[in-house]
Amino acid sequence: MNFETKVIHGGTQEDPATGAVVPPIYQTSTYHQQELGGNAPYEYTRGENPTRFAVESVMASLENGKYGYAFSSGMAAIHAVMTLLHEGDHLVMGNDVYGGTFRLVNSILAELGVSYTAVDTADPDAVAAAIQPNTKMVYLETPSNPLLHVTDIQKAADIAHDAGAMAVVDNTFASPYNQTPLDLGADIVVASGTKYLGGHSDTVSGFVVTSDTDLADKIKMIQLSIGAVLSPQESFLVQRSLKTLALRVERHNSNAQTLAEWLNEQPEVQKVYYPGLPGTPDYEIAKQQMRGFGGMISIELQDGLDTKHFVENLDIFQLAESLGGVESLIEVPAVMTHASIPREVRLENGIKDELVRISVGVENVDDLQADLAQGLAGLH
Ligand SMILES: Cc1ncc(COP(=O)(O)O)c(C=O)c1O
Repeated sequence: MNFETKVIHGGTQEDPATGAVVPPIYQTSTYHQQELGGNAPYEYTRGENPTRFAVESVMASLENGKYGYAFSSGMAAIHAVMTLLHEGDHLVMGNDVYGGTFRLVNSILAELGVSYTAVDTADPDAVAAAIQPNTKMVYLETPSNPLLHVTDIQKAADIAHDAGAMAVVDNTFASPYNQTPLDLGADIVVASGTKYLGGHSDTVSGFVVTSDTDLADKIKMIQLSIGAVLSPQESFLVQRSLKTLALRVERHNSNAQTLAEWLNEQPEVQKVYYPGLPGTPDYEIAKQQMRGFGGMISIELQDGLDTKHFVENLDIFQLAESLGGVESLIEVPAVMTHASIPREVRLENGIKDELVRISVGVENVDDLQADLAQGLAGLH
């Protein structure tokens, strides 16, 4: 089945109990057990819920995996994956990952005795050099947030596997429409469903997908034990959104490509970060492993131009955190999404104070370009 068909027919798309073409919202915490100790398939919603199972199975299908798990946020999903690590283990992770992921690793995990080395995962030699005898996981985002660097997933996964570690990819920015890391050697895919999967800036969710039965059993146990599950209502909303994922992401891709090329020509713009712009190593790898280049662009304005004025004076692009919704958003990572990373670490990793991140929505691209044009003109 092709992706555009799987979003509609993959996984569990109808209610086995009634044949309803849409899985209903099973808004229940518990289930009547017919027999004491009878091992009923549904006992308690933290463990089993048909609406959550439905969205989990579709996500597994879209990521070309066998097992999917839905969490109450992307961070809850990432935390579940990080819980596979134990005291004394070492983690190699990307140096421009989402700020919340960095905070989780740098604070909570560090306190639990898990050490880490942050490297530019786009450089395979840097990944290999960071491996230690106790490295158990290589964790990366590609394209990364917010610099849109692209890591060769197959190469990073091979390095991890040679060291006896697992490879985990945060697929939030690409979405499974643009990229399926499990096909490129990753053991686990994690994603914030709050972004492209939910797609309408109205739900918060997270997903973990794997084809490895042992890892799946562990993640399921962690999901049940820690309990950060996706609610039936939210599961329903995400499943509904997934049906239009292909249509939406195709439009995000084409709008972003047009705007990135246009921004690249504007005198007020010093640098454009977008994997779909030829002439960079990111582009060469993205071309091989991605179906589309995604809807995220980052830019740096020329020195001396007022970034604050620019992001506050657009009409369509709203100044807001998050990404991947149908509406276009703009933000300054240093002040907003990545403020939890210490400034010196941020600067070391190339995330300047003035960097602007743009989540290109699915509006008419001419309107979006006109809005950016008036914003740039207003800087003079
Ligand atoms: C790449 C990436 N991963 C994970 C997360 C965390 O997801 P959530 O906000 O759903 O917890 C985000 C949030 O912005 C993100 O951008």
